Amino acid sequence: MLIPRSSSCCARALRLSTHHHAIHMAVPSLLSSFCHLFPRGHGFKPFPQFLSSSCSASPLSSLSSVPSPKPNKRVKTLVAAALLEIGGVKIAKDDVVRESDPTNNVPDNIFSKIGLQLHRRDTHPIGILKNAIYDYFDTNYASKFVKFDDLCPIVSVQQNFDEVLVPADHVSRSYNDTYYVNADTVLRCHTSAHQAELLREGHSHFLVTGDVYRRDSIDSTHYPVFHQMEGVRIFSPDEWKDSGTDATSYAAMDLKKCLEGLARHLFGAVEMRWVDTYFPFTNPSFELEIYFQENWMEVLGCGVTEQDILTRNGRKDSVAWAFGLGLERLAMVLFDIPDIRLFWSTDQRFTSQFSEGKLGVKFKPFSKFPPCYKDISFWISDSFTENNLCEVVRGVAGDLVEEVKLIDNFTNKKGMTSQCYRITYRSMERSLTDEEINQLQWNVREAVQGKLYVTLR
Ligand code: DAH
Repeated sequence: MLIPRSSSCCARALRLSTHHHAIHMAVPSLLSSFCHLFPRGHGFKPFPQFLSSSCSASPLSSLSSVPSPKPNKRVKTLVAAALLEIGGVKIAKDDVVRESDPTNNVPDNIFSKIGLQLHRRDTHPIGILKNAIYDYFDTNYASKFVKFDDLCPIVSVQQNFDEVLVPADHVSRSYNDTYYVNADTVLRCHTSAHQAELLREGHSHFLVTGDVYRRDSIDSTHYPVFHQMEGVRIFSPDEWKDSGTDATSYAAMDLKKCLEGLARHLFGAVEMRWVDTYFPFTNPSFELEIYFQENWMEVLGCGVTEQDILTRNGRKDSVAWAFGLGLERLAMVLFDIPDIRLFWSTDQRFTSQFSEGKLGVKFKPFSKFPPCYKDISFWISDSFTENNLCEVVRGVAGDLVEEVKLIDNFTNKKGMTSQCYRITYRSMERSLTDEEINQLQWNVREAVQGKLYVTLR
């Protein structure tokens, strides 16, 4: 999304800076090789099953009133299922993955993650961290925050972007950055997608935790599925009227106090600083950074909710704050987890190291298996993007790919551009054989040539 690669690791925030804008706008072909037609204006219809009942058009109305089931054991059986159910919404694989549909860019391996809900497993680092944050809010706000962690990740474009004021030309809306189920429906790319609807339902204090999906490049801190938690608190006029400050300053002060407390709850007595930033949905907007292991690390994005969001959702006279944080990023630091793919491992040597309620137990790598590097070079076409390449590589090699890195780029006199990428293969769980890697690389080359319209060199 807008948070390209820089230092921000897996807390890729949905912000807009001219710098990021420039980078992403250099990739104008929204539809690149996965989608050859411009999706809007073609009259594609959203799936009725998502938009009618609970999932997309009104995904929360039924979900929030139904008590969430306890953290699920059923999760395991969902892995390869062709029909999932999340928060009462039935999701068929054929409706989410449709290779022949130019308005759809969801691959199989992404579908297979829907429903796994790592954040609802009490013995998984992501679930342990979620629960630790819950504890902070329950203790400090007398359980006033209502918690949602089972909202369907398939949402409308309206929920994901329009309702949180993401501009129409914002790059995060592109097919290069977001997984589209069809022209009107996406896999949410942030938990902010649920803000507006929960406000309309009348909630004034809430936390939303969920899996979010973004097309991106590949390295040890980026994975196309990760988890976020969103928090929103609304104040009514009588809460700030005697404070001696205006509503916005009152909310900003409260927000900072709340989040500094949360950072101390998670990290102990750390040094912190606030950095001004930009998000479409808040004004003013801030990032909280903590000084950790000799670096300033961005922990979360937040701000005072744009008044327009409150007005449109029946809260005209209120003021509110909101924040969003990436759980993997924090969990990697708190549990010493070196590679983001490990969160998806079902290897007992990983899963058995964590237990319910134990935040910050340090992960002991069971072994370090050797990496294997393979380069691939090609002449690119106009529609080529690195995200599309990564999608193809991930489609072939799955979690055996650790990194895809551009190592050479030149344009010849005829104006043709050649790029060379180094692919690092490494399993988290075992040694890979030469034969296996050669086969993978062969399959990657075939797939790259077949799907990306590049000319291999
Ligand atoms: N939605 C943002 C992202 O995905 C994170 C965020 C920032 C959420 C500021 C908020 C907020 O609610 O106020 O990067």
